[in-house]
Amino acid sequence: MSQHRIAWLPGDGIGPEVCAAARVVLDAAGFDAVYLNGDIGWEFWCSEGDALPQRTLDLLGKTDCAFFGAITSKPASEAVRELAPQLHDRGLTYRSPIVRMRQLLDLYVCLRPCRALPGNPLNYREDIDLVVFRENTEGMYIGVEFPKIPEAFREVAAVRQLPADAAISIRSITPRSSRRIVEAAFQYAVKHGRRRVTAVHKANVLRATCGVFLEAAKEVAARYPQIQFDTANVDAMCMWLLKNPRDYEVIVTTNLFGDILSDLCAQMVGGMGFAYSGNIGQTYAVFEPTHGSAPKYAGRSKVNPLASILAAKMMVEWLGEAEIAARIERAVEDVVARGVVRTYDMGGSAGTMDIAHAVAESVAIRDAVRA
Ligand code: IPM
Ligand code: MG
Repeated sequence: MSQHRIAWLPGDGIGPEVCAAARVVLDAAGFDAVYLNGDIGWEFWCSEGDALPQRTLDLLGKTDCAFFGAITSKPASEAVRELAPQLHDRGLTYRSPIVRMRQLLDLYVCLRPCRALPGNPLNYREDIDLVVFRENTEGMYIGVEFPKIPEAFREVAAVRQLPADAAISIRSITPRSSRRIVEAAFQYAVKHGRRRVTAVHKANVLRATCGVFLEAAKEVAARYPQIQFDTANVDAMCMWLLKNPRDYEVIVTTNLFGDILSDLCAQMVGGMGFAYSGNIGQTYAVFEPTHGSAPKYAGRSKVNPLASILAAKMMVEWLGEAEIAARIERAVEDVVARGVVRTYDMGGSAGTMDIAHAVAESVAIRDAVRA
């Protein structure tokens, strides 16, 4: 296959070190790519007032996909305080770059696999193997928020009843986005031999928005009679997941519920050191470890890079290099199962790069055996 072009976006905090770890493994696996570095993260917010500068968006337009590490986000007031003096009073507001990339590039699928790797001492139960399909472009993430209720809204009777100092956030759900995320979940189920899809909502309270999602889910499910389909309220789902995690295979849900549920699922298979995501659209995708920038660990080579390495595996797979992806996955499994090289979260004392080298070595040994 031809050389792939990857936008490489390490970001800040622990982003650069987990990205470096992923690169060691990609290189060891013989993945053929050029990596084009892109500016993203807190320092660009402070110096330019934009954590995702236009030049980085242009870079995305010239690459096959992107790999993203992590970036720091701070609450609105703190963000404004940290802006360079000349940028104050410009009315700039900080918005999460990863959320912006998801929306600007219409990366409507957030795919988050959660599998208990054999031998991981952090597994909540063995044999958990589920994937979360999180709608990635709308819902509570549209950024339509008001610290005070706009006067015009007071024409609506229900709004008039709210206290004058209420802040409000608006949630938007469309049939189109609901259909396409549920469709993606069913297609995944068919392709990967999964027997069950569960749509998660809160339609008993969020009647309008979750109503749209649920209707769309039922409509799509009717086209896949061979796949078992069921629905659950998000609160009950949390309970069922902890009670019977092995019963679930594919979970599909709206943006914020997916954000929350995927952390719950991640913790059942080892926590954020194992949680990885593909933000996938029709023609472009951004892969990332799901964890944040963990500033307190930055530069200490302490955190578990397996999330980042698994995100790289998912990227390679999406690019059509199934064989390389499978070898990376087997090497990760091998390192986890042997349990010799472990970061602090797994009870060990190995550093970030020790894990990367152990996985890289395992990939290389497999190459040697095959040759
Ligand atoms: C995630 C993260 C992001 C989100 C944050 C960093 C904006 O929690 O990818 O799950 O809320 O989507
Ligand atoms: Mg999250």
